[in-house]
Amino acid sequence: MTICYLNDDFVELSKASISPLDRGFLFGDSVYEVLAAYKKNLFRLDDHVDRLNKNLELLGIKVNLSNTEIKTILKEVCLKNLEENQIIYLQISRGVEEIRNHIPKEDTKPTLFVCSFEMKNVPKENNETIKAILSSDIRWKKSSIKSTSLLANVLYKIKAQEKGVDELLMSDSGFITEGAVSNVFCVNENRIYTPPLEANILPGITRKVIIEIFQDLNLNFEEKKIDEEFLFKSDELWITNTTKGILPIIELDKKIIGDGNPGKLYQLVKQAFLKKIEDCKA
Ligand code: PDD
Repeated sequence: MTICYLNDDFVELSKASISPLDRGFLFGDSVYEVLAAYKKNLFRLDDHVDRLNKNLELLGIKVNLSNTEIKTILKEVCLKNLEENQIIYLQISRGVEEIRNHIPKEDTKPTLFVCSFEMKNVPKENNETIKAILSSDIRWKKSSIKSTSLLANVLYKIKAQEKGVDELLMSDSGFITEGAVSNVFCVNENRIYTPPLEANILPGITRKVIIEIFQDLNLNFEEKKIDEEFLFKSDELWITNTTKGILPIIELDKKIIGDGNPGKLYQLVKQAFLKKIEDCKA
């Protein structure tokens, strides 16, 4: 049995229902967060709630809940479900209206939904590697908003699956933006690079944690526009996100990256990342 939170109640997920007139369903007029809970501790809870608030503010969705109340709901959903390690999904839409109209009404009450899934693959010490393909970025110019309008990302993931790879990296006018569900890092001659936030990318929480690790370990790092040629010449290529942590790409468009194995810097950063997970208390 999975317990979720919908509007003002904790309910069994199979009993939860939302009106088809919800603007999240009709227009994708909603934002979301995906959090990891390790041993029932929510990783980087404050960062996720900060990002959520920024997105709500940008879209003018007014939720009548304090940060503390939102955090309590997230923690409660985590505690009410049995799994030690969970993926917590939160979605806030602008709410339900009686008549479909692009222009929202002032007094519409947002819909808040939080649920939990078992985290099947907890980041751990292993040699997991992935393959990826490159495609042009067809998304809108506000990909920094964590919006549920994810049609392009869905199509990209289907394409990746059809090609037998795990992730699809995007490039816009020849410059790398991010993955379909991840941020991207590459290593060239011992220096680590990632596209800047201005490159129409999601400000990933894992990206932020990884950059903190570079600072902790005094690693050579730069946020910079990465062109395709530079990417293919990388000695190492990584993706980061909440559900996978950090993973090395060893093949891009069938070309081997580096020597085809997880690189030295990857292993160093991954160790530090695992330590952060271990120390996580929230
Ligand atoms: N997605 N970029 C995109 C396009 C993403 O969809 C995600 C994560 C990230 C990484 O963000 P974070 O480190 O905060 O998870 C970057 C989540 C996991 C999802 O949609 O399921």
